[in-house]
Amino acid sequence: MDYQIPKYGKEVLFNENPLPLMLIELNTNKILKTNSAASAKFGYSRDELLEMDLSDFRLSEDKEIVSPPQVSVQSGHYFETISRCVTKKKNTINTSIQSKIILYKGKEVAFTVINDVSPYKSIETRIINAQSEAIDMEREAISQEIHDGLVQVLATSQIYLKKLHPSIALEGELMDQYNKALSLLGRGINEARTITHNLMPKSVVDLSLNFLIEELINDFSETSDITINFQMDFDQPDLSDKIKINVYRIMQEALNNIRKHSKASQLDIFVTAKGKKMVLDIVDNGVGFDHTSLQSNNRGIGLKNLKRRTALIGGILNIFSQKEKGTRIKLRVPLKGD
Ligand SMILES: Nc1ncnc2c1ncn2[C@@H]1O[C@H](COP(=O)(O)OP(=O)(O)OP(=O)(O)O)[C@@H](O)[C@H]1O
Ligand SMILES: [Mg+2]
Repeated sequence: MDYQIPKYGKEVLFNENPLPLMLIELNTNKILKTNSAASAKFGYSRDELLEMDLSDFRLSEDKEIVSPPQVSVQSGHYFETISRCVTKKKNTINTSIQSKIILYKGKEVAFTVINDVSPYKSIETRIINAQSEAIDMEREAISQEIHDGLVQVLATSQIYLKKLHPSIALEGELMDQYNKALSLLGRGINEARTITHNLMPKSVVDLSLNFLIEELINDFSETSDITINFQMDFDQPDLSDKIKINVYRIMQEALNNIRKHSKASQLDIFVTAKGKKMVLDIVDNGVGFDHTSLQSNNRGIGLKNLKRRTALIGGILNIFSQKEKGTRIKLRVPLKGD
C-alpha cells in the first residue's frame, strides 16, 4: 500500500523537524522558508531569518559563496559544505550543510539541512589527529623500509648484472633471457619506487607543496587519457607539514576517485591563494554521483577521509556533484597567521 503524506503533514514534517531546515533561493542565497529548529539554532526569529541569506551566517573570512562555474545548477544536484557559522549571539558553530536542488513552486531552490557538528568536533579532532599521525608514521616507516631495503637490494643486483655482461659472451636465446631479466629488474625497481612514493611522497618535509602537487598532476597525466587544464598561482614556501601532507592526501584521493570512477574526458584543477587562504578546485566532467546512492551502498572511505583531513587543518570543503554532470571538489585552507 502506498503511504502518502497529506499536505498538512508535509508542513508539519518541515516546520517541526528537529533538524534546522531551509529552502534557499539559488542565485541570491536568500532564505525562502525555514523552520523553528533553524531559529533555535541561530537565535533569530523566523521573520528575521526570512530577511537574511545563507552567507549572513558565515564567518566573515568564510564569506565566499560557492558558485560552481562549470556545472549549471539543476534539480538533483547535491552540495555539501563543511564550514563554520555564526549565531546571532556571535557564537561560532561547526556545521555540515547539505543541500539538494529541488523544484519548489516552479523554481529550482536548495533544500538545505544544517547539521551542527560542534559537539563531535573537538573529540573527533583529537581522535583524527592521533589516528592520522599514527597512519602517517606507519606509512613513512613502511615506505622507508621498502626504499632502503627492497629497492637497494634490487638496484644493487641490477648493477652486478650489468657489470656481468661485457665479461661473459652470451648469444641468441641466452642474451634475450639476460636482457629480459635486466628489464624485469628495472620494472621491479620502478614499481617499488612508485609504492614508496604513494605511501609517503618522498620527504614531505623537504619538498614544497607546489612541487608535490605538480608531481601528482604529472603522475596522473602520464597514466590517464583525461585532458587536464592545470593552473597554479600559489607560492607559499613555508607551509606546515600538517597542511602539506593533508592537502597532498586530499588531492591524491580526489584524483584517484576521478581515475577510478569519473569516466571524465576533461579535468580542471586550479590552485590559488586568495587572501590568507589556499584554494584548491578540482572539477571533472564525468559521470558524477548522487548523495542518495552514496549513503545507501558506498563502503569507500575516501570521501570521509577528505572531510576528516579538512577538519584537521581547519579548512572548508565543498563537494558538488550530480549524476552525469560531473563532480567538483573545492577546498579552502587557512594559511599561517590566519
Ligand atoms: N569524481 C568522481 N566521479 C564519479 N563518482 C565519484 C567521484 N568521486 C567519488 N565518486 C563516487 O563516490 C563514491 C565514494 O567515493 P570514496 O572515495 O568515498 O570511495 P571509493 O573511491 O569507492 O573507495 P576508497 O576511496 O575507499 O578506495 C565512489 O564509490 C563513487 O561512486
Ligand atoms: Mg576513493
